[in-house]
Amino acid sequence: MMFQGYQKNQTPKGGERVKKAIITASLMILVMASSGYAARNSAVIATGPHDMSAGSALNNADATINGQTCVFCHTPHGGSTTVPLWNRNNPTSTYQLYTSSTLDSTTTSATIQSSVSGACLSCHDGSIAIDVLRNLNGVAFTSGVAFTVQGTATATYGNSGSGTNNILAGGIPYLGTDLRNDHPISMIYETSRAATATEFVTQTANGSKIYVASASGDLPLYGTSTATATVECASCHNPHNNSQGTFLRKSNAASAVCLTCHIK
Ligand code: HEC
Ligand code: HEC
Ligand code: HEC
Ligand code: HEC
Repeated sequence: MMFQGYQKNQTPKGGERVKKAIITASLMILVMASSGYAARNSAVIATGPHDMSAGSALNNADATINGQTCVFCHTPHGGSTTVPLWNRNNPTSTYQLYTSSTLDSTTTSATIQSSVSGACLSCHDGSIAIDVLRNLNGVAFTSGVAFTVQGTATATYGNSGSGTNNILAGGIPYLGTDLRNDHPISMIYETSRAATATEFVTQTANGSKIYVASASGDLPLYGTSTATATVECASCHNPHNNSQGTFLRKSNAASAVCLTCHIK
């Protein structure tokens, strides 16, 4: 963009060329610091990768939801109970599951569909349009219409540049339904830990919260008891906070995320 300027103008000479280069470089740093790059590492939804409102990467064109940031995931009424006040339906995809000769735990496609991970996959497996919601906040409830898919797919998802409504193959956040090459999810943490007691850090229960404690930051497990709590996408990722990049719950420097659970 900046370098096109040189082609239009006459080629600058000597000192002037250096001066222009310095100004160009400073401008680029200013632009990067004030908008794009810094903002994507937002510690809140707004301006981060999960901001799908107008002006975001998603370029949502639906005037009734423009400007709202929570609506793509949460609703005050009529939500599903998969995740607190969840505004999306569970995916119905059949997943290909991670497997290996050393894996102790198991899970099923149905378990993933109805889990917190299924909530993430309702966008990230590419099967459900991002703006197909249970309850389109700001739009009066239509009598006789169930709290199901009141939204219509009108957004344009910009990441891959092909302008459809789903997260698409080829886009950075696309996981698809083949999860064989992804860290296993929705499996009970205790099963594997108990089977190989020296391989996993013992989980902690504090009231209804179950987590794996660590000095560098605890990671949550999902479930009602230490014996049944599972590892989910949101054990490693916090969908609201991208200050570490890739929505990680904490920095993975020195593999701190992995070593919270694995003793290796
Ligand atoms: C991209 C999806 C997404 C967006 C956008 C989003 N959330 Fe969430 N939210 C989730 C998921 C998934 C969970 C459950 C996983 C977890 O425990 O973090 C959750 C959990 C929560 C919780 C309960 C757990 C906690 O962290 O306190 C609250 C409260 C919440 N969200 C509020 C909000 C508000 C307010 C907004 C808008 C400013 C928002 N969320 C936007 C996905 C989202
Ligand atoms: C409403 C749809 C939606 C839901 C639900 C959702 N995401 Fe995303 N997520 C997106 C989109 C869209 C992007 C890409 C934004 C971009 O590239 O501009 C993204 C990006 C990401 C990224 C990459 C961030 C980066 O630094 O580029 C991660 C990691 C991620 N999501 C994890 C999750 C997890 C984990 C959950 C569930 C707890 C979740 N998402 C739920 C839509 C969603
Ligand atoms: C055991 C921890 C862990 C779990 C579980 C996990 N992730 Fe990740 N994820 C990571 C780490 C660490 C990174 C950053 C390294 C990388 O980019 O591969 C990451 C990166 C990503 C990215 C960025 C793109 C990429 O490939 O780099 C996306 C999108 C993502 N995760 C989504 C998800 C979703 C959706 C789930 C659940 C289906 C999930 N993650 C489960 C640890 C995890
Ligand atoms: C929240 C806890 C947790 C975190 C964080 C975590 N894991 Fe895991 N991981 C598990 C559990 C539980 C299993 C299932 C083990 C089993 O059933 O044998 C597993 C399985 C695996 C496996 C497959 C093992 C096999 O026998 O096939 C690998 C490899 C692995 N994790 C690597 C990682 C890496 C690398 C990271 C960091 C990016 C990480 N894990 C973060 C809990 C975690």
